[in-house]
Amino acid sequence: MLTAFNFGEAIVMVTGAGGGMGRSIAESFAARGGTVYVTDIEESAAQETAQLINVAGGHAIARQLDVTDANAMDALANDIFEAHGRIDALINNAGVTMRPFRAIWDASAQDFEWMMRINYFGVINGLRSFIPRMREQGSRAHIVNTSSFAAIDTIPGHGMYTASKAAVDGISNVLRAEFEDQGDDIGVTILYPGQVTTRIGTSERLRDAAERSDVREVKAYEMKNLSNPHNEPLAPEFVGDMVITAIERNAPFVLTHPAPTDNLKARVEKLNSGYFGLHSQASH
Ligand SMILES: NC(=O)c1ccc[n+]([C@@H]2O[C@H](COP(=O)([O-])OP(=O)(O)OC[C@H]3O[C@@H](n4cnc5c(N)ncnc54)[C@H](O)[C@@H]3O)[C@@H](O)[C@H]2O)c1
Repeated sequence: MLTAFNFGEAIVMVTGAGGGMGRSIAESFAARGGTVYVTDIEESAAQETAQLINVAGGHAIARQLDVTDANAMDALANDIFEAHGRIDALINNAGVTMRPFRAIWDASAQDFEWMMRINYFGVINGLRSFIPRMREQGSRAHIVNTSSFAAIDTIPGHGMYTASKAAVDGISNVLRAEFEDQGDDIGVTILYPGQVTTRIGTSERLRDAAERSDVREVKAYEMKNLSNPHNEPLAPEFVGDMVITAIERNAPFVLTHPAPTDNLKARVEKLNSGYFGLHSQASH
């Protein structure tokens, strides 16, 4: 059982907070009295979010931060610990995707690498820079890592993204188990957004010009029959308060839409039959 999270004096760092869900999460913390380090690879976007918060009476500090830059992440962590002696909430939100969707066999090696470097190693950099001192600070803390519905559903044409978000899912679950095992006062929540109306579809603006999908022949994946009726587009403004509630309750997971439980149940059944169904002589 963790101690209560103190929102009123929270020191918070949000990556990718220049827009979308990151901005909403930053605003929700600030509305409850927290001091929020609003970071983004796009400095002007980070400044815009910070200004919105400060004008509304909150307290935000804008910083340019590319989550793939481990040294820059360390430098930010050093600054935060020097200024406050602690970090209460670390929100590893920054992420990118690619358009058009493409089959795994139509993606380039650079596509895979770019996606993984930001979506997975960006999270790892946040964890590595902050956790050791967070464990020593002696007060309740919380980490939120943004995965995706892609990690719990199976979306044809979205393989690279799925892999990167499944990696975030995997590491976050183990991280929670490690904190529990060690008796640390640190919660871990995985955020799984469904479809949220943000700038995510334009992520490749941040990529080297020569590698962008629009300057190459990329074969778009033709979706034959996929639909999830429960995944209607949602505005990002709703997501911040969902995350706050999840931290309040130390919920391991927060979803923006109903989970595709039919798929999950079918997967559990198939996993069981992958053993019991195939080894009928097994003595279990
Ligand atoms: N929008 C959706 O439907 C959806 C669905 C599932 C998961 N997600 C995930 O939610 C998170 C937030 O995305 P969003 O939808 O709000 O999109 P968004 O594009 O509005 O926000 C992402 C932010 O991350 C920033 N960013 C990109 N690369 C970065 C880097 N290397 N370092 C630091 N910042 C970087 C962008 O500049 C942007 O401001 C992402 O991890 C995304 O993968 C989004």
